[in-house]
Amino acid sequence: MNQNIILNEISKLKSKQSQWEPFTWYKDMRENNPVYYDAEQDVWNVFLYEHTKRVLSDHELFSNKKQRSLIPVPREHFDNRSNINLVDPPEHRKRRALQSQAFTPRSLKEWEPRIKAIVDELIADLEGESTVDIVEKLAIPLPVTVIAELLGVPFKDRGLISSWSDIIFLPYNQEAYVDIDKQKGQAMKEFHDYLLPIVQEKRKRAVDDIISDLTKAELDGEQLTDEEVVMSAIGLLGAGNETTTKLISNIFYCMLFDKPGVYQELRTDVSLVPNLIEEVLRFRFTASMDRRVAQDTSVFGPKMKEGQVVVAWLGAANRDESEFAHAEELDIHRPNSQHHLSFGNGPHFCLGAPLARMEARIALTAFVNQFADIQPVKGFDVTEHLTDSVLGQSLKNLPILFDRNR
Ligand code: HEM
Repeated sequence: MNQNIILNEISKLKSKQSQWEPFTWYKDMRENNPVYYDAEQDVWNVFLYEHTKRVLSDHELFSNKKQRSLIPVPREHFDNRSNINLVDPPEHRKRRALQSQAFTPRSLKEWEPRIKAIVDELIADLEGESTVDIVEKLAIPLPVTVIAELLGVPFKDRGLISSWSDIIFLPYNQEAYVDIDKQKGQAMKEFHDYLLPIVQEKRKRAVDDIISDLTKAELDGEQLTDEEVVMSAIGLLGAGNETTTKLISNIFYCMLFDKPGVYQELRTDVSLVPNLIEEVLRFRFTASMDRRVAQDTSVFGPKMKEGQVVVAWLGAANRDESEFAHAEELDIHRPNSQHHLSFGNGPHFCLGAPLARMEARIALTAFVNQFADIQPVKGFDVTEHLTDSVLGQSLKNLPILFDRNR
């Protein structure tokens, strides 16, 4: 059986539009098929908030040690101590501790001015324009520039890094499986060969960045090998790049199309920016995560057998009315938006969540302070601007019109 699980084969949503807006299907599954078995791929699927949370957090029943997965990366490269995701507690705690030192509130405070400077530069580049593609100009360059800077890889190479990372995490599809696999192998090799001398250099002369920290970190009294540091860096890029791009793109899409008017509310009270970010994460993040059933269980009703896969549909859980009142509406005054599961739950809760939140907050605050209004471009048809991604359909462009402050 194929080791990669293909979400669109489960949902049978064929058009880009229906994959971009799977919310009617989510609702139907929550109401009529909340624990659904896809026999073709031998995969269980859960859609309710409580079930999703349980799958993500109960590692005794639902393990992260898995052979088959939604995450479309060639497994052999990540089977070592650099991987903090494909492992359960207690081993997980130790591996995570190595990387989590980089994401403490103190390190974030230190990074804030660096991130502000990157945002200011990207926004200054919009000077003189009245229409911009906000994905190309902000949502794509911001996360990759930030992570390149924090890892300590040369800024000038961010285009290369972005394209390797895009290929390595490209979703598989049945038609082009072999071709995609070949591309991934090639990108992985090039990225690895690019990072290795950087890691070797930093091991000799450590500076103030995450790769240097990783070369010094110890697990059970032993340092990570150069290979493991390389794979940790690729893992961080993969986990933090496209996800944050998607968040920033979605924020603009939501302001333009899901809740026009919200931009003016932010202009009046910019302290509402974090509420909008949390609500966009709840409302428009169509991600799913998987686990291996670790022991036979009927915890959700039907019997799931050890070794089967279970997919938790985070985007569906985020619209479950039992947790979120009027869940199908984007409401920045919702008291519990931050209960969304878009950053996961339990031991594997996203390590980069504070960084992603901070990037989005700094970018949106700077934008709102400088631009009096934003409008969609006439005739914009979202279906022409979507691309397949590991997170479902993502925006590849979002042209917007904006007015500068006078
Ligand atoms: C909006 C942006 C982001 C979203 C929605 C997101 C989402 C997630 C989710 C759902 C998980 C849980 C995986 C699981 O349960 O198996 C996760 C884990 C993780 N994320 Fe993020 N992420 C984002 C940004 C970032 C950033 C910026 C970084 C770092 C640069 C990062 C690093 C990680 C790491 C290392 C893990 C693995 C944690 C573990 O397994 O213990 N993420 N993320």
